[in-house]
Amino acid sequence: MEILAIETSCDETAAAVIEKSDDDIAILSNVVASQIDIHKKFGGVFPEIASRAHVEKIIEVINQAIEQSNNQTIDVIAVTTGPGLIGSLLVGVNTAKTLAYANNKPVIGINHWLGHIYSTFSGEILNSKSKILNKSQIQNPKFPLLALIVSGGHTGLVLMKSHTDIETIGQTLDDAAGEAFDKVAKILDLGYPGGPAIALTAQRGEPLKYKFPRAMLDRDDFNFSFSGLKTAVLYESKKHKLDDKTKADFAASFQQCVIDILIGKTLQAAKKYHPKSICLCGGVSANKELRSQMSQAIEQWSNGTISLFLPPLSLTTDNAAMIGLAAAYQIANGIKPTTFENINADSNLKL
Ligand code: KG4
Ligand code: ZN
Repeated sequence: MEILAIETSCDETAAAVIEKSDDDIAILSNVVASQIDIHKKFGGVFPEIASRAHVEKIIEVINQAIEQSNNQTIDVIAVTTGPGLIGSLLVGVNTAKTLAYANNKPVIGINHWLGHIYSTFSGEILNSKSKILNKSQIQNPKFPLLALIVSGGHTGLVLMKSHTDIETIGQTLDDAAGEAFDKVAKILDLGYPGGPAIALTAQRGEPLKYKFPRAMLDRDDFNFSFSGLKTAVLYESKKHKLDDKTKADFAASFQQCVIDILIGKTLQAAKKYHPKSICLCGGVSANKELRSQMSQAIEQWSNGTISLFLPPLSLTTDNAAMIGLAAAYQIANGIKPTTFENINADSNLKL
């Protein structure tokens, strides 16, 4: 089965082709047209401009994905139906519906969070043509799994007892973790997107120089809050001359605070739900410090009994391969694709 996957929930126009056979799921192509350069001057994603840019790029991106997959046939179309920016989502969803109608193909709607979770099921990238082999070649996360999704628009903890038994156990009450990186980068004048800029600057700074509040760690629910942290950085930064060293200390102290919160909440949830695997995914999971500290913390806390699963770096930020992977695993586990009339965009879609 060949799956064409489409993702346009935020500011990446993306398409991929995934091949699902009886014992393998492989990524045949993965094309992403990023709008970062377009949104840079606004210091964040400008929704109206994002949806227009999707309209301009989507057909070209889909054609490239099909061409690079060396495939003639598509059996199913998978598309992100939410959550995300409604104008952006509508471009991908309407394109998927039109292709499904015109070619008489079934469609499957995929939740963007689920896509991020399945990016950790993708295994090693095997050299040429971004082909990523799956299943029989690699070890996948085991159920029950606990997934921490940390991206520019979303932050949440999800418990999956099976491919189809999925529950959100916590989420951010205000800003997403990636949004905090972007806003703090703006305060420190480090450029956009903030995540990679903060990570780079933080390498030269002292993570314990400024002590910012580790919000929500004293609560026994699994929700997050990052807007107080952003405000704390803003107020503290006004008291200092922001030379290179000071900026580096701010970046490192902020980054460490986010990492402590993410690790603290994940372990709190692990204590309650006893997962066999933990998955860390979403744009912020590209952060090397977060990857290594989370991995050490889980290893230490579980005495090596729980493994951390991470997406390959190319699948951390938004892409369509993860949407196709989610579709492949969902279909393999009994979820049936539907017809184009039944697919709709929902900016607040829940898992
Ligand atoms: O998953 P993603 O592409 O978009 C959403 O689904 O929202 O995540 C983008 C976010 C941005 O906020 C960006 O600053 C952040 O991921 N990010 C990082 C890093 N690379 C990207 N945050 C921290 N460290 C990084 N290395
Ligand atoms: Zn995302």
